[in-house]
Amino acid sequence: MTKPPSIVILTGAGISAESGIDTFRGGGGLWEQHRVEDVATPEAFARDPDLVLRFYDMRRAAIQTKLPNAAHQALARLEREWPGRVTVVTQNVDDLHERGGSQGVIHMHGEHLSAWCTACDTRHRWTGPLLDRPPCPTCGARALRPDIVWFGEIPYRMDDIQRALADADLFVSIGTSGAVYPAAGFVRLARELGARTLELNLERSQGSAWFDESRLGPASAVVTGWVEDLLT
Ligand code: OAD
Repeated sequence: MTKPPSIVILTGAGISAESGIDTFRGGGGLWEQHRVEDVATPEAFARDPDLVLRFYDMRRAAIQTKLPNAAHQALARLEREWPGRVTVVTQNVDDLHERGGSQGVIHMHGEHLSAWCTACDTRHRWTGPLLDRPPCPTCGARALRPDIVWFGEIPYRMDDIQRALADADLFVSIGTSGAVYPAAGFVRLARELGARTLELNLERSQGSAWFDESRLGPASAVVTGWVEDLLT
């Protein structure tokens, strides 16, 4: 009996754009409004922790007012109905995949709704602010930081991702510009390891040439269309 095809899906900010969450690059993107060096590096946090905590407190509050869209829901449907393995790896730090119904999502860049205690190295589900330096529920130290992978830090669960890519028959990239490594390199790796590659994005990404196929358009349309095609 042959193994049903395994699918690995990499998502980026574009899948949450229609839910009202800003993307990072391009007109009006988050990195046009804030400098990465001011808010998204360990050095920035050491230099001006209040600025960094305020920035993430605002974003943590904002994502809780947003709802998953049809693209998140389509991926959850695929996971439920596809006979093979479906692994969602996201660069997104919102929880819209989970609220859309996906399970076991790999958050390689961390999560807004998690706080990391740098004193005892525990992580806690966190929905409120961190600016007022609340104590860690485990050790009591006032050393909680956003559980976000900042520039210069190593993304989470790279071993699990490598294993999933090695097992993938199809690699699909959704709503990501292909500007940030190592995620931007997954398409090459997946290809070298034998997977077919598909890009679903509003416009061609930086690594577009590495994909066997590109379907362009808003995620709510192209992702739902692709899932429908695959399941019927
Ligand atoms: P970007 O902002 O770089 O790219 C978003 C992509 O989504 C672009 O290619 C857009 O064309 C596309 N897009 C926009 N709206 C869309 C829609 N409705 N449907 C489909 N596609 C759409 O975001 P990422 O590639 O996710 O890292 O950025 C990667 C990382 O850079 C982020 O995880 C973040 C950032 O710095 C950290 O913060 C660690």
